[in-house]
Amino acid sequence: MTRSPVWHPFTQHGIEPTMKKVVATNGAYLIDEDDNHILDAISSWWVITHGHRHPTIMDAIRRASDVYDQIIFAEYTHAPAEELARGLIEISPAGLQHVFYSDSGSTAVEVALKMALGSFYNTGQRRDRIVVMEHGYHGDTIGTMSVGERGIFNTAYEPLLFGVDRLPFPEPGLEQETLDAFDQTSRSGGVAALLIEPLVLGAGGMKMFSPSVLRALCTIAQRHGVLVIIDEVMTGWGRTGSLFACDQAGILPDILCTSKGLTGGSLPLAATLCTSAVFDAHLSTDRRKTFFHSSSYTANPIACAAAVANLKIWSQEPVQSRIDRLTALQGRKLRRFAEDRRFRNIRQSGTITALDMAIPSSGYLADIGLRLRAFFRERQLLVRPLGNVIYLMPPYCVSESEIDRLYDAIDEAANVFIGTSA
Ligand SMILES: Cc1ncc(COP(=O)(O)O)c(C=O)c1O
Repeated sequence: MTRSPVWHPFTQHGIEPTMKKVVATNGAYLIDEDDNHILDAISSWWVITHGHRHPTIMDAIRRASDVYDQIIFAEYTHAPAEELARGLIEISPAGLQHVFYSDSGSTAVEVALKMALGSFYNTGQRRDRIVVMEHGYHGDTIGTMSVGERGIFNTAYEPLLFGVDRLPFPEPGLEQETLDAFDQTSRSGGVAALLIEPLVLGAGGMKMFSPSVLRALCTIAQRHGVLVIIDEVMTGWGRTGSLFACDQAGILPDILCTSKGLTGGSLPLAATLCTSAVFDAHLSTDRRKTFFHSSSYTANPIACAAAVANLKIWSQEPVQSRIDRLTALQGRKLRRFAEDRRFRNIRQSGTITALDMAIPSSGYLADIGLRLRAFFRERQLLVRPLGNVIYLMPPYCVSESEIDRLYDAIDEAANVFIGTSA
């Protein structure tokens, strides 16, 4: 058999030389070339919200592709981008008044960092330090790797990465240390922005912290004139139980990044929303103050139309009650492991649940991660543990019996890899 020329992301082809072709998607399932129906318990890397191929979104894509393809997004605009921007402003935290489009979560964060630095530069203030949280993940470009956790994923590129200030993760009982560290860092001057994933640090191991810590961090930022950038790329669109995770903290960010569920997961698109103050810092007749950022596919009209359809689904269908149902269901099912010593740190934020398998070898590269993945794959379940951290982040259309299959498989995995529960 000839080898595929395709180089897949986050894949060691020396261990995984071949992979199954997916021939269709439907609801909570991927359907492969052998007609296996694979339950997508991680929403295809956290993008699919309502389920694969929601008819309203697919219709909008079909209709938009009758009249549009890519359109240059300087000098010209188009209805899907305009309608989407207005819709996003309406549902986002108050104060966010402008929308800058790009095409992935990483670019949404890059744009946010440039907006923050540009705001201070254009107003003659010397602030260029970025504060982030330990275990954070914001993407895989050079800039977003710089602001993310350092480790095996980016050691090779270390010479190119810029320095940032890191706050300790607010472990339960140690929240004040995080707040004090931020206050102290901000006092030392030169801090432009705090960049943070709200409530759940996803790729860093589904580490969760409370809305009150997020609120307290924002209060400190405000006190020191530090801009708050909220990275809602993973948490947005209902994952943590509310439309945006930051809604639970009642905060008003200066900049908010969204992607993944923005189009319901159907097409790549991202938006970075900002306040008038950030926009106005770039507003001038002086061309040197222009926001110098673009990418060829900015505001692709078909992707924008898909996102407008997503907004329509949120306003016309009972999405919030589906999220509430899934949140309650996940909570009930997770409880079966509450006293199970084979698991640690059982946790939930809205529709997301996570638990650590109590085995000594942990971390992303631990063999257990790969072995668990294969174990779930054999059962036609798409679950990709982060090392020994098993998490579920299904689309909102998932049924109770499908959730039961997932928790039964987790139990069985523990039987196989650790032993039966005591
Ligand atoms: C919080 C967060 N920010 C940014 C990104 C990067 O998004 P993308 O993979 O679309 O570039 C991710 C991706 O998982 C993410 O979870």
